[in-house]
Amino acid sequence: MSSEADVRNQYFDRLFSNPELKWLGQNTNHFPMHPAVRAALHEAIDDESFHAYAPPLGIEALRSAIVDDLELPGHAAVVTDGAVAALALACRAFCTPGGGFVTTDPGWKWPLQFAQKAGAVITEIPIYGPEHGYKLSVDALVAATDANTRVIYLVDPNNPLGTTYTADEIRAFAERAKALGAVLIHDCTYRDFADSHTLASSFYPEGTVTIVSFSKWLGLAGLRLGALVATPDLLARILPHSQAPLGASVIAQRAALAGLAVKGEWMAQIGAQQRANQVVIAEAFRRLPGFQVPMAPTQANFLVVECIDAGITPEALVTALGEQGIMVRQGAYHTPRFGHRFVKISTTVPAAWAQALVEALPQAVERARSLPATTALF
Ligand SMILES: Cc1ncc(COP(=O)(O)O)c(C=O)c1O
Repeated sequence: MSSEADVRNQYFDRLFSNPELKWLGQNTNHFPMHPAVRAALHEAIDDESFHAYAPPLGIEALRSAIVDDLELPGHAAVVTDGAVAALALACRAFCTPGGGFVTTDPGWKWPLQFAQKAGAVITEIPIYGPEHGYKLSVDALVAATDANTRVIYLVDPNNPLGTTYTADEIRAFAERAKALGAVLIHDCTYRDFADSHTLASSFYPEGTVTIVSFSKWLGLAGLRLGALVATPDLLARILPHSQAPLGASVIAQRAALAGLAVKGEWMAQIGAQQRANQVVIAEAFRRLPGFQVPMAPTQANFLVVECIDAGITPEALVTALGEQGIMVRQGAYHTPRFGHRFVKISTTVPAAWAQALVEALPQAVERARSLPATTALF
């Protein structure tokens, strides 16, 4: 008999083994690579430098390039196997049994599980809905935090909502964390898609851990590369919890370095393309009875589509689109509380994929009506 972990793995293996699949569900980036990144990857394979381990905290040139890119002087980076490993490390370092871990609902679920494993008491602040402006307010954060709060986990821009914060809001969040002596984990995985973005570390450097990823803006999801950035004093509290004494992928780090060198040009190009995809996709859903797109374009590379008033469940729609080779994500992946309302569509994809979704939609919606309302999805 298969374990749940096996079933989940086989689900993703089926998706991964389909070379024709159009990935519009995991916010990964499927635009053809920048030539400089392609050249760096080829070089990294041809010179076989990967027979050696990388330096444990990352190639020094990459560590510096990450800090320079964030414009956080006095900070240092630790390169990790994706942002998720950086988040796991920060949770191991700062979550305590009985200590409060406060985040938003919806948000990104895995750090909640890391915090739970460490015995933390989780508080999820609801932010879904126009009454919240689909984002965290300072008042809501103040009301949900107290002297027992050890960690505030802020996904900004939020996944799945694609909302971000003003400098004043970030300053107020940082001040609240500082007043409580809590660590602020600022998950900036999607920051490069925002029109403007403020780093909490510029207000509260001594207690902020900034998390970045190379999966989304650069398209290296399968190469697994991210980083955690903090001041040297804070890093000294984090590093004893590291489980990666042998460093991260050499090949991925070489690609990341090349990517950072062309970032401005690359983001200008793909940023415009993914925004155009958002417009096309939002319009297609809005033409269908009952569907709503609360925000488009968003400040990230995805958007939320409400299907609750269309009379079909997110799971049925995901399954129906899946039958047509298109992957989108059910809301329940992000939030048990609000997940029955929406699907999430990722937009860093070739325009032809966005068009394929638009064309598949009317038939998929009809098909969804005859499918089970709930299906085991992951
Ligand atoms: C908010 C957030 N943080 C972190 C990650 C993980 O990124 P990585 O691929 O770098 O591990 C994701 C991936 O979807 C995410 O949505």
